[in-house]
Amino acid sequence: MLTVAVLISGGGSNLRALLEAASDPAYPARVIVVGADREADGLAHAEEFGIPSFVVPWPGADRRDAWGEELNVQLRAWRPDLVVLSGLMRLVPPAVVAEWSPRLINTHPAYLPEFPGAHAVRDALAAGAALTGASVIVVDDGVDSGPILAQERVGILPGDDESRLHERIKPVERRLLIDVVRRIATGELELAAAS
Ligand code: GAR
Repeated sequence: MLTVAVLISGGGSNLRALLEAASDPAYPARVIVVGADREADGLAHAEEFGIPSFVVPWPGADRRDAWGEELNVQLRAWRPDLVVLSGLMRLVPPAVVAEWSPRLINTHPAYLPEFPGAHAVRDALAAGAALTGASVIVVDDGVDSGPILAQERVGILPGDDESRLHERIKPVERRLLIDVVRRIATGELELAAAS
Protein backbone atom coordinates (compact mmCIF):
# COMPACT_ATOMS: atom_id res chain seq x y z
CA MET A 1 0.00 0.00 0.00
CA LEU A 2 1.47 3.36 -1.06
CA THR A 3 1.31 5.97 1.71
CA VAL A 4 0.67 9.54 0.63
CA ALA A 5 1.03 12.97 2.26
CA VAL A 6 -0.95 15.75 0.59
CA LEU A 7 -0.09 19.45 0.93
CA ILE A 8 -2.71 22.11 0.25
CA SER A 9 -3.38 25.85 0.57
CA GLY A 10 -7.03 26.16 -0.41
CA GLY A 11 -10.34 24.36 -0.69
CA GLY A 12 -8.80 20.96 -1.29
CA SER A 13 -11.22 19.62 -3.92
CA ASN A 14 -8.44 17.51 -5.46
CA LEU A 15 -7.47 16.29 -1.99
CA ARG A 16 -11.08 15.29 -1.38
CA ALA A 17 -11.21 13.34 -4.63
CA LEU A 18 -8.07 11.45 -3.62
CA LEU A 19 -9.51 10.75 -0.16
CA GLU A 20 -12.67 9.39 -1.78
CA ALA A 21 -10.69 7.23 -4.20
CA ALA A 22 -8.53 5.92 -1.36
CA SER A 23 -11.55 4.94 0.69
CA ASP A 24 -12.14 2.14 -1.85
CA PRO A 25 -10.30 -0.90 -0.45
CA ALA A 26 -9.26 -1.81 -4.00
CA TYR A 27 -7.37 1.48 -4.47
CA PRO A 28 -3.67 0.83 -3.81
CA ALA A 29 -2.80 4.08 -1.96
CA ARG A 30 -3.83 5.71 1.32
CA VAL A 31 -3.59 9.35 2.38
CA ILE A 32 -1.90 9.23 5.80
CA VAL A 33 -1.55 12.96 6.51
CA VAL A 34 -2.56 16.34 5.10
CA GLY A 35 -0.44 19.46 5.57
CA ALA A 36 -1.07 23.11 4.76
CA ASP A 37 0.74 26.45 4.80
CA ARG A 38 -2.23 28.06 6.58
CA GLU A 39 -5.57 27.16 8.16
CA ALA A 40 -6.84 26.09 4.75
CA ASP A 41 -10.53 25.29 4.25
CA GLY A 42 -9.52 21.95 2.71
CA LEU A 43 -8.24 20.69 6.09
CA ALA A 44 -11.90 20.01 6.87
CA HIS A 45 -11.83 17.17 4.33
CA ALA A 46 -8.98 15.52 6.24
CA GLU A 47 -10.93 15.83 9.47
CA GLU A 48 -14.05 14.36 7.88
CA PHE A 49 -12.08 11.34 6.66
CA GLY A 50 -10.29 10.94 10.00
CA ILE A 51 -6.89 11.80 8.55
CA PRO A 52 -4.40 13.72 10.74
CA SER A 53 -3.24 17.11 9.58
CA PHE A 54 -0.64 19.76 10.35
CA VAL A 55 -0.11 23.41 9.50
CA VAL A 56 3.30 24.98 8.93
CA PRO A 57 2.31 28.64 8.54
CA TRP A 58 3.95 30.49 5.66
CA PRO A 59 6.32 32.94 7.37
CA GLY A 60 7.00 35.20 4.36
CA ALA A 61 9.45 34.86 1.51
CA ASP A 62 12.49 35.87 3.59
CA ARG A 63 11.96 32.82 5.84
CA ARG A 64 11.13 30.38 3.05
CA ASP A 65 14.11 28.09 3.77
CA ALA A 66 13.21 27.78 7.47
CA TRP A 67 9.62 27.01 6.41
CA GLY A 68 10.92 24.24 4.15
CA GLU A 69 12.98 22.75 6.99
CA GLU A 70 9.90 22.66 9.23
CA LEU A 71 7.87 21.09 6.43
CA ASN A 72 10.56 18.40 6.14
CA VAL A 73 10.42 17.77 9.90
CA GLN A 74 6.65 17.29 9.73
CA LEU A 75 6.77 15.09 6.64
CA ARG A 76 9.62 12.94 8.00
CA ALA A 77 7.52 12.10 11.04
CA TRP A 78 5.00 10.41 8.70
CA ARG A 79 7.51 8.78 6.31
CA PRO A 80 5.15 8.92 3.30
CA ASP A 81 6.07 7.03 0.15
CA LEU A 82 4.79 9.96 -1.91
CA VAL A 83 4.16 13.68 -1.29
CA VAL A 84 1.44 15.31 -3.41
CA LEU A 85 1.25 19.08 -3.77
CA SER A 86 -2.41 19.59 -4.50
CA GLY A 87 -3.06 23.30 -4.64
CA LEU A 88 -0.13 24.22 -2.37
CA MET A 89 0.34 27.79 -3.61
CA ARG A 90 4.00 28.05 -2.58
CA LEU A 91 7.21 27.17 -4.34
CA VAL A 92 8.73 24.51 -2.14
CA PRO A 93 12.33 25.33 -1.13
CA PRO A 94 15.30 23.35 -2.48
CA ALA A 95 15.67 21.36 0.78
CA VAL A 96 12.17 19.93 0.33
CA VAL A 97 12.81 19.09 -3.33
CA ALA A 98 16.17 17.49 -2.41
CA GLU A 99 14.59 15.31 0.25
CA TRP A 100 11.43 14.11 -1.54
CA SER A 101 11.77 14.49 -5.31
CA PRO A 102 11.06 12.49 -7.44
CA ARG A 103 8.55 11.19 -4.85
CA LEU A 104 7.15 14.74 -4.86
CA ILE A 105 4.45 15.48 -7.42
CA ASN A 106 2.27 18.46 -8.23
CA THR A 107 -1.06 19.01 -9.94
CA HIS A 108 -1.27 22.05 -12.21
CA PRO A 109 -4.25 23.60 -14.01
CA ALA A 110 -2.61 23.99 -17.44
CA TYR A 111 -1.02 21.90 -20.15
CA LEU A 112 2.62 22.31 -19.13
CA PRO A 113 5.03 23.66 -20.23
CA GLU A 114 2.33 26.15 -21.21
CA PHE A 115 1.30 28.57 -18.44
CA PRO A 116 3.46 27.63 -15.44
CA GLY A 117 3.14 29.51 -12.15
CA ALA A 118 0.46 30.58 -9.72
CA HIS A 119 -2.03 32.06 -12.22
CA ALA A 120 -2.17 29.39 -14.90
CA VAL A 121 -5.90 29.67 -15.62
CA ARG A 122 -5.85 33.49 -15.77
CA ASP A 123 -2.73 33.40 -17.98
CA ALA A 124 -4.33 31.00 -20.47
CA LEU A 125 -7.36 33.29 -20.79
CA ALA A 126 -5.18 36.39 -21.11
CA ALA A 127 -3.17 34.74 -23.88
CA GLY A 128 -6.38 34.14 -25.87
CA ALA A 129 -5.62 30.41 -26.06
CA ALA A 130 -8.26 28.08 -27.47
CA LEU A 131 -7.03 25.18 -25.40
CA THR A 132 -5.49 24.77 -21.99
CA GLY A 133 -5.42 21.66 -19.82
CA ALA A 134 -4.30 19.92 -16.68
CA SER A 135 -1.00 18.28 -15.79
CA VAL A 136 0.57 16.16 -13.07
CA ILE A 137 4.33 16.55 -12.82
CA VAL A 138 7.32 15.62 -10.70
CA VAL A 139 8.47 18.67 -8.73
CA ASP A 140 12.00 19.86 -9.42
CA ASP A 141 13.78 23.09 -8.49
CA GLY A 142 12.10 25.09 -11.25
CA VAL A 143 8.61 26.54 -11.53
CA ASP A 144 6.36 23.73 -12.81
CA SER A 145 9.25 22.50 -14.93
CA GLY A 146 9.63 18.87 -13.78
CA PRO A 147 8.95 15.72 -15.80
CA ILE A 148 5.31 15.40 -16.91
CA LEU A 149 3.56 12.27 -15.63
CA ALA A 150 0.13 12.86 -17.18
CA GLN A 151 -1.72 15.64 -18.93
CA GLU A 152 -4.90 16.27 -20.83
CA ARG A 153 -6.34 19.10 -22.89
CA VAL A 154 -9.35 21.19 -21.83
CA GLY A 155 -11.04 23.53 -24.31
CA ILE A 156 -11.60 27.20 -23.52
CA LEU A 157 -15.19 28.15 -24.32
CA PRO A 158 -16.65 31.52 -25.31
CA GLY A 159 -17.67 33.36 -22.16
CA ASP A 160 -15.24 31.49 -19.91
CA ASP A 161 -13.91 33.48 -17.00
CA GLU A 162 -11.19 32.33 -14.62
CA SER A 163 -13.48 30.60 -12.17
CA ARG A 164 -15.68 28.90 -14.78
CA LEU A 165 -12.67 27.60 -16.70
CA HIS A 166 -10.92 26.46 -13.51
CA GLU A 167 -14.04 24.54 -12.44
CA ARG A 168 -13.95 22.68 -15.78
CA ILE A 169 -10.22 21.93 -15.45
CA LYS A 170 -10.43 20.61 -11.89
CA PRO A 171 -12.38 17.41 -12.64
CA VAL A 172 -9.74 16.57 -15.26
CA GLU A 173 -6.97 17.24 -12.72
CA ARG A 174 -8.70 14.99 -10.18
CA ARG A 175 -8.97 12.13 -12.64
CA LEU A 176 -5.31 12.49 -13.67
CA LEU A 177 -4.13 12.71 -10.06
CA ILE A 178 -6.08 9.63 -8.94
CA ASP A 179 -4.78 7.69 -11.93
CA VAL A 180 -1.14 8.80 -11.49
CA VAL A 181 -1.15 7.90 -7.77
CA ARG A 182 -2.68 4.52 -8.62
CA ARG A 183 -0.07 3.84 -11.30
CA ILE A 184 2.77 4.85 -8.96
CA ALA A 185 1.33 2.53 -6.30
CA THR A 186 1.12 -0.44 -8.65
CA GLY A 187 4.59 0.18 -10.07
CA GLU A 188 3.15 0.83 -13.54
CA LEU A 189 4.66 4.31 -13.36
CA GLU A 190 8.21 4.68 -12.10
CA LEU A 191 9.38 7.98 -10.69
CA ALA A 192 12.86 8.79 -11.90
CA ALA A 193 14.88 11.79 -10.84
CA ALA A 194 14.81 14.68 -13.30
CA SER A 195 17.97 14.65 -15.39
C1 GAR B 1 -5.88 23.21 -8.42
O1 GAR B 1 -6.40 23.55 -9.66
C2 GAR B 1 -4.37 23.08 -8.49
O2 GAR B 1 -3.91 22.52 -9.65
C3 GAR B 1 -3.98 24.53 -8.41
O3 GAR B 1 -4.79 25.03 -7.39
C4 GAR B 1 -6.04 24.37 -7.43
C5 GAR B 1 -6.39 23.90 -6.05
O4 GAR B 1 -7.72 23.49 -5.98
N1 GAR B 1 -2.58 24.64 -8.15
C6 GAR B 1 -1.80 25.55 -8.74
O5 GAR B 1 -2.22 26.41 -9.50
C7 GAR B 1 -0.33 25.47 -8.37
N2 GAR B 1 0.44 26.26 -9.26
P1 GAR B 1 -8.27 22.67 -4.75
O6 GAR B 1 -7.72 23.33 -3.48
O7 GAR B 1 -9.75 22.80 -4.84
O8 GAR B 1 -7.80 21.25 -4.89
